[in-house]
Amino acid sequence: MSSTQLSSQESASRPSVIPCFLRGFFENPLQVASFVPSSVYLQRKLSSLACLQTARCVVELGPGTGETTRALLEAMPADSQLLCVEVVSEFVARLQEFADPRVTVVENSALALKSILQQKKFPAPEVIVSGVPFSVMTPEEGRQLIQTIYQVLAPGGAFVTYQFRNNVCELAADCFGAPQSRELVLWNLPPLDVYLWKKAERKTHKRLPTAPLKA
Ligand SMILES: C[S@@+](CC[C@H](N)C(=O)[O-])C[C@H]1O[C@@H](n2cnc3c(N)ncnc32)[C@H](O)[C@@H]1O
Repeated sequence: MSSTQLSSQESASRPSVIPCFLRGFFENPLQVASFVPSSVYLQRKLSSLACLQTARCVVELGPGTGETTRALLEAMPADSQLLCVEVVSEFVARLQEFADPRVTVVENSALALKSILQQKKFPAPEVIVSGVPFSVMTPEEGRQLIQTIYQVLAPGGAFVTYQFRNNVCELAADCFGAPQSRELVLWNLPPLDVYLWKKAERKTHKRLPTAPLKA
């Protein structure tokens, strides 16, 4: 059994995340934006992302109480690392209970991602998964977050986000262009779309023909 899977005895003794999530929602409604964690259907969709299977470094923004975190860990290689960035202190305390050595939890805003990666000496992530609700951010904050994600993502890396409004497409268009895929997860409260963008691979510069030297 992997360290992210819980035995039936552990699952039974683990307090439900629902009260914790509800408190987080009532205390921070704009940031949490949902009163229950994501459904198992969304978790399965995240676990099935091919880009996670070979990733060495993954970032999760807005992991909440860790239900989506567990889904990511299920798909990630044993020697990879996952950086979780969350603003709600009670959720952070919950995330710190993960016994998986791949997990690093930071209490901060996703907007500080660039400096967090530097402080923690993490390499450029190949995958960034975000549950941060772009619909309740100001357009300025939303644009800033997209730019940060684009800057720190490794060339060829994937940016995945699940959202119940589609304003993220407009925000992401300048950096990423159109999403590579968009899939509806109906069985979630509320139903939402999972978007995936790819950052272009580094451009290979063609050598310009050099002019013959004049004598
Ligand atoms: C819709 S909930 C998703 C929670 C969890 N990933 C899930 O699917 O069950 C959004 C999460 O983003 C977090 N969040 C909102 N704004 C944030 C920010 N600027 N930086 C980091 N986390 C943020 C919230 O606290 C909350 O945990």
